[in-house]
Amino acid sequence: MPTVTNPLQELLDGNRRWSAAMNAADPTFFEQLAKQQSPKYLWIGCSDSRVPATQIVDLPPGEIFVQRNVANVVAHSDLNCLSTIQFAVDVLKVEHIIIVGHYGCGGVQAVLDERRLGLVDNWLRHVGDVAEKHSSMLTALDLMSVRNARLCELNAIEQVTNTCRTTMVMDAWERGQSLSVHAWCYSLENGHMNDLGMHVDSRASLQPAYEAALQRLVRPAVVRP
Ligand code: CO
Repeated sequence: MPTVTNPLQELLDGNRRWSAAMNAADPTFFEQLAKQQSPKYLWIGCSDSRVPATQIVDLPPGEIFVQRNVANVVAHSDLNCLSTIQFAVDVLKVEHIIIVGHYGCGGVQAVLDERRLGLVDNWLRHVGDVAEKHSSMLTALDLMSVRNARLCELNAIEQVTNTCRTTMVMDAWERGQSLSVHAWCYSLENGHMNDLGMHVDSRASLQPAYEAALQRLVRPAVVRP
């Protein structure tokens, strides 16, 4: 009989090695974590394999509730993302929602290149709308890499706005729940997170925070990353 090799054996072996190491470091780790999760953060990031949530902010499992999709979009009618936000805010009572874009995002670049990739083009249309909204800022940038960086930042900022306008976030603020929404952009080149300086903790602070974040971007070009 031919030997059947599991194509995922490497991953399964890795899993056992990892769990043994975690267990050696803290024998109660899994026991404690299995009882409950009480993350303080909801991370809404890109599906890109190079931007894993807990790892790049040096946190262990259990600390971040995660939603990832291509180009970290928060679409008003995306039941998946809306449900994640609702569960995170209403049930887990996270204190922070972080929209995490990343420089060099392929989804963002496809929008800039007007490339056809398939079904995903319809999803990326949301990023296209962001590009159109800020077209004067983008076309003023000559270098494509700089334009990509700027649209990655603008997209994260706009998705914060979308998040703040969801009924879940509005209702949380209405009932006095402590909740802030933030925009970050991560550099694949040096592993550094760039805080885009948009922090919204109430309905009233959304517009001023949005305008201040855009102002910061308009300032003389600092090439990021
Ligand atoms: Co991406």
